[in-house]
Amino acid sequence: MSAASLLDLKSLSAETIARIFSLADRLSGEKPADRDHFPNRRGLSAALVFFEPSTRTRLSFETACLREGLRPVILDGAAGSSLEKGESAEDTLLNIAAMNPSVMVVRSGDALDMEAMSRALPGLPWLNAGWGRRGHPTQALLDLFALVRKGLDPASQRLLLIGDVRHSRVAASHFELARVLGYEVALCGPASFLPERPTARVFESLRDGLRWATAAMALRVQLERHPGATDLKDYHGRWGLNADSLKALAPKAVIMHPGPVNWGVEMSSDVMRDPRSVILEQVGGGVWIRQALVRRALEGKV
Ligand code: CP
Repeated sequence: MSAASLLDLKSLSAETIARIFSLADRLSGEKPADRDHFPNRRGLSAALVFFEPSTRTRLSFETACLREGLRPVILDGAAGSSLEKGESAEDTLLNIAAMNPSVMVVRSGDALDMEAMSRALPGLPWLNAGWGRRGHPTQALLDLFALVRKGLDPASQRLLLIGDVRHSRVAASHFELARVLGYEVALCGPASFLPERPTARVFESLRDGLRWATAAMALRVQLERHPGATDLKDYHGRWGLNADSLKALAPKAVIMHPGPVNWGVEMSSDVMRDPRSVILEQVGGGVWIRQALVRRALEGKV
């Protein structure tokens, strides 16, 4: 596996993450570069292989690659590809790697063994763009970057994850990142949405959790994994963020969501206008974080 790959956050040090944030912050102040700013990268490509749907991550990596002088080549779901003829994800990746991209960005389900695949392609930097329930490391990094951009110290944060933690790769990556950076994570939500054996503090009530939190992150209720079992009105009444429940959150705390949002379920639409919401800042900053990671993949360092 290339040393510049990013499959999880366990393997990054706090110092490396600080350098990634610092580069992302510097990039935020630059005029977006185009390919002409990187004459030595002319003709280089990045393979964006998305076996599962995505809007934010895919377009954000695509933008990041363009700004870093790489031409993105994209596989976006099975439609129109030989996956429809029964070719496996593994063979698909080996064939795309044979076209010699400079970096491989992959979103997949749990069934793909990303670690084994990236080991099988040792010279090719591999960036995990969301891997089943295993992790979404670039999302957790961009979440923390949104807090850093507000002048907050990552190690002092108390992050409340609300709702569907059991199915969330974003939550899985925050558990890893919190161990590296030192912030606290707590959970709240229906028992059937939380891990069977939680390793973090659990609040029985949303209001108690919000009173504790410096950052409240609602997680998407993964309706596709709760067939017919969730009363969404009831869920919002007990666990939803709205003008009433958010009275319990401190004025200086922030409201987050990795997206996509089920409006009226995890949060009511007026939450977007709450001055504490950084939901779109998360998305915007994600491009700079991914630029920094693409640059690290190309140059082997940040
Ligand atoms: N947050 C996130 O991963 O969104 P997408 O599925 O749209 O990429």
